[in-house]
Order: sequence, then C-alpha cells, then structure tokens
Amino acid sequence: MIAPFKLERYFARYEFQARYLLSASDCESLSMPEVLELADADSLARWQSLNLGYTESLGLPALREEIALLYEKVSADTIMTLTPEEGIFICMQTLINPGDHVIGLFPAYQSLYEIARSRGCKVTPWLLKAGDNAWELDFDELENSLQEDTRLLVINFPHNPTGFLPRLPELLRIVDFARANHLYLFSDEMYRFLEYDPVRRLPPIADLYEKGISLSGLSKSFALPGLRSGWLATQDERLFHKWALYKDYTTICSSAPSEILSLAALRAREVITRRNVNLIGENLLVANAFFERFADQFNWLPPQAGSIAFPRLNMPVAIDDFCQQVIERKDVMLVPASMFDLPGNHFRIGLGRKNFKEALGLLNDFMLGI
Ligand SMILES: Cc1ncc(COP(=O)(O)O)c(C=O)c1O
Repeated sequence: MIAPFKLERYFARYEFQARYLLSASDCESLSMPEVLELADADSLARWQSLNLGYTESLGLPALREEIALLYEKVSADTIMTLTPEEGIFICMQTLINPGDHVIGLFPAYQSLYEIARSRGCKVTPWLLKAGDNAWELDFDELENSLQEDTRLLVINFPHNPTGFLPRLPELLRIVDFARANHLYLFSDEMYRFLEYDPVRRLPPIADLYEKGISLSGLSKSFALPGLRSGWLATQDERLFHKWALYKDYTTICSSAPSEILSLAALRAREVITRRNVNLIGENLLVANAFFERFADQFNWLPPQAGSIAFPRLNMPVAIDDFCQQVIERKDVMLVPASMFDLPGNHFRIGLGRKNFKEALGLLNDFMLGI
C-alpha cells in the first residue's frame, strides 16, 4: 500500500473550489491558441495533419531531439518522454529494490520519497534548514545519513516548496558525494529555467554525472501542466533500457496532441520562460512589500528560483488553523507545512499566477482583521 499523497488530496479538495489559489506551484497556464500562436511552421504543419494513433513509446523523435538540445552530454537516444509524475514512479521502480536505503532532500514533493517507502525502502530525509533569511544545505547531515546499503540520493532544485537554489559548488559537492559512494542521483528539475538571475541556472545532473538522472517537463516553467508532458534524461544506457521496458506498464506512449504542442512550446522556450519569470518577478515585488509590512508576523525567506516560496508564520496559532481560517473567511487557499509532512509553521505560497496581487490583498485584509 502507498500512503495518500497529502498535497494532491488537499488540492483535490480546494483547487476547483477556492476562488484564489495562493499556493499553486505552476505559472498562469497558457491557452491552446497562445501555444499555437507561438508555434513554428514545422510544429504547426504537424499539428494540422496530426493522426491520433498510438505514438512511439520512447517519444516523438523530433521532440526527443528538441529536448536533447537542453543537454550537453545526453543525446536523444537516452531521453524518454512521459508525464513528470510517471518519471518519478518509473525511476523508483528501476533504480532501487526493497530494502535499499535512500536519502532524499526534505521537505519534498511527496512522491520523491513516498514511492520508495512504499516499495519497502528505508528513506532518510536530508533536511533543508531555515536560516534567518535563506534556506541552507547541511552537508554534515548528508554525510551522516549514508549507510552501507544507500543506493540513491534524491534532490530537487529549484526546490519545491522553498524556492531554494544552491550555488554551483554546492551542487558539485553533492555530485562528488554521490560518485564517491556509487549512488544514483535523481534530480527533479521541474522548475529549471525559472531562475530569477539566469547566471544562477545550474547544469542538469544528467550532464554532470554518469549515474545522474534529470527529470524535467513543461508543467511549471512552461506553464503547460495540462499537457502532462515531461521527460527523463540520463547518460546511462542500461538504465534507459529498463525505463523503456517499464513504460509498457504505465502509459505505453505519450498523447499525440500533447507531443506536438510540447514540441511547439520547447521551440518557443525563450519567450515562454521569460513570460513566466517576468510574471514571478512582478509578484515577488508585491510579496516583498507584504512581508515587509508584516515582518513581525512572518519570516519571509525569499526564493531564488521557481514559482513558490515557503515563509513561516510567527504567531501563536497552528498553521493548519491559520490556513483553514484564510480559506473560510477570504476564499484564498494556502498550503500548510503539514501537507509536506513537516512540523512547524511554514506554508507555501505560489508566485506564478496573474491574480497573485488580488489574492495577497485578501490575505492582507485577513491579517488586518485578526
Ligand atoms: C517537484 C515536483 N516534481 C514533480 C511534479 C509532478 O509534475 P506533474 O504534476 O506535471 O506530473 C511536481 C508537481 O507539482 C513537482 O512540484
């Protein structure tokens, strides 16, 4: 049995009920006409003559080639398209066996540790620490977590839910640690391309490490979660072969319309990611002002990349109760830390939506009313 996915269940309750989602992790979704408007001539021709048969199991060749342009050491031959969540699932079936030990950055998107746990693996959380103004990695803790049977280290940068992004030397230190201990390194890079300063963009793990796996996709940085489009990339051909065999038991192949829209979106990467980073940038200014105004009530911890942040409430009220009251009184949904299995008073806010200012305005009113 696998434990319920708390965050997804919480969204199932509120996503289409609450008027304002102030904790969504994706950016304001693009519409179909917007994507087609951005499409190059080749993608558009493919779209107009699209046949709705089964597609190639590893992914549309042109799409895999387009994805390969994002990597230096990985070719289209070892890139497989799938839905992002499916990528996590397949990796956790093919990288580890029951009884293996896994170290996973924590807090985390639940499937990054829960699937391993449900397979009978032992999972040690590697806790991201909240400093006064920023989140911090604790390398001593990482080294102390290592066991004889550790097989896999799971990371996620830019990070959900904190918006933390390490510096390159820190990432290289993680790679060195994985290499020295013969670990697979699974890197969830769903929020890559949403760095506020492009200089801070990290290389993908699949380029940096021969036993590294990069998961990426179009749900967050490309504002296209409805396409259900993502991919796994690795240099390891044997591992890739295992994924291919496994995919026959999950989705077999990707959705045909989604593949073509994904191709168009990837080719318009600069325009789409710039639009999203700009939107986040505007919302961040509003957020900074809000948290400055309520500096006694919240500890802000500004994000460095991605579409989310994880501030802390500094009031003598439990964060679950606070979020519940905000929903009831203002119709604004916030996600409390408990949805990430984390004690304490952090909560997630999403910075990628167009109605952010309005929603934060309601939270402002709520704060003034208590
Ligand atoms: C870190 C992370 N990885 C993977 C996913 C899964 O992406 P998708 O919902 O597109 O399958 C999410 C979605 O929220 C996420 O935040």
